[in-house]
Amino acid sequence: MQKLIIKGRNELNGKISISGSKNATLPILAACILSSNTKLQNIPLVKDIFTMIELLEFIGLKIKIIKKKNTLIIFNKKNKINTLAPYKLVKTMRAGVLVLGSLLTKYGKAKVSLPGGCAIGTRPVDLHLLALKKLGAKIKIKDGYIIAKAKKGLKGSTIKFPSISVGATENALLAAFNAKGKTILKNCAIEPEIKDLISFLKKLGANIKIIGRTIYIHESFKKLEAYHKVMFDRIEAGTYMIASALVGKKVTIDRIDPKIIKTEINTLKKIGVNIKKNKSSITINRNKNLKQINILTKPYPGFPTDLQAQLMVLLTQAEGASKIQEDIFENRFMHVPELNRMGAKIEIKNKIAIIHGPTKLMGAEVMATDLRASVSLVLAGLIAENRTKINRIYHLDRGYESLEKKLKNCKAEIRRV
Ligand code: UD1
Repeated sequence: MQKLIIKGRNELNGKISISGSKNATLPILAACILSSNTKLQNIPLVKDIFTMIELLEFIGLKIKIIKKKNTLIIFNKKNKINTLAPYKLVKTMRAGVLVLGSLLTKYGKAKVSLPGGCAIGTRPVDLHLLALKKLGAKIKIKDGYIIAKAKKGLKGSTIKFPSISVGATENALLAAFNAKGKTILKNCAIEPEIKDLISFLKKLGANIKIIGRTIYIHESFKKLEAYHKVMFDRIEAGTYMIASALVGKKVTIDRIDPKIIKTEINTLKKIGVNIKKNKSSITINRNKNLKQINILTKPYPGFPTDLQAQLMVLLTQAEGASKIQEDIFENRFMHVPELNRMGAKIEIKNKIAIIHGPTKLMGAEVMATDLRASVSLVLAGLIAENRTKINRIYHLDRGYESLEKKLKNCKAEIRRV
């Protein structure tokens, strides 16, 4: 099994270009079921995207991957396709459940495996199903599968989500694409990735408007072809911002839109990180005097749960006791015992982690548990003395494109064995 070995305390210096967003690409790929000919650019070539491609191919779409250009050309021209998303593909990547909305609205039926829990929490799909039922789908759960039918097509309706969910908002948007009449979705997630999905659906002719957390979808004439360039990965950008705040002499992070990551930039500034904003990049230099902060993870525009583990590593270097309250997932502090083994002083009280800093981190052999937890260990390895060996890095490969290459270009000592 592959491992990463990092020799810490090397200063980072140079430029890091941010890849396309994994979490925007996944729902947009599910939306390609709705079109017949799509060209997508700025696709991050990471494991989760290849799993989604495998799922779409299983369903019957034809996909050409142009790796050098991070481009996909996708055709859905068959009359008969497989409206099934099997367990073996959905279990490794929960976003597979997003094909449910597209299949149902276009073909009137879908059988999609329940994704089950994962390392960070139970992650149910009740909100996805609530929206589809409101749009007129008949849904049964049988043998671990969601069996959904809408023989006469879906019908627009008003849906108020009892709590905010990214995936449920996306599934509802996809399902509403071909629904008759008007659909109103209330209390939606409004993550930038959802706005990117909406911009793709609009290119396919959808009539969609967002006001606050309400999304209006009106029946409209559809097109069958679209071209789209996927937005940048704001979590990857945030991760390298934190790496630079930890060990950056001068690092420029480019191919981003700083306006989209205002919360992250302002949070790091409050901690004391030096950040200079440009139009499509930011430059960071390390400040050794970091201050404590208290923060909650929240849906966008709040601080993202996907950056919580990385921020925690930065806070081990800040003066005083910081608090992070994890409000989105119930089991997202799995990196804490590993960080403590490296010398951090972090206690957990229910949903709150208290980080006592500053502490010197020492390299150790550690174990990655999920995507964002594993990258937090990479960050800890960058600031730690001596060598850090990270096991189970397949988690990292699900979501970070060319991580070692990007860090090595900035003079980090990191290698895969
Ligand atoms: C997406 C992101 C993930 C991110 C998360 C929150 C993708 C592929 N993944 O995941 O990286 O961490 O948003 O920003 O974009 N919930 C329910 N019932 C449901 C659905 C969700 O109770 O039917 C709960 C979840 O358990 C969780 C909360 O709602 O506690 C938010 O989850 P959600 O926003 O749906 O996350 P995902 O879409 O799975």
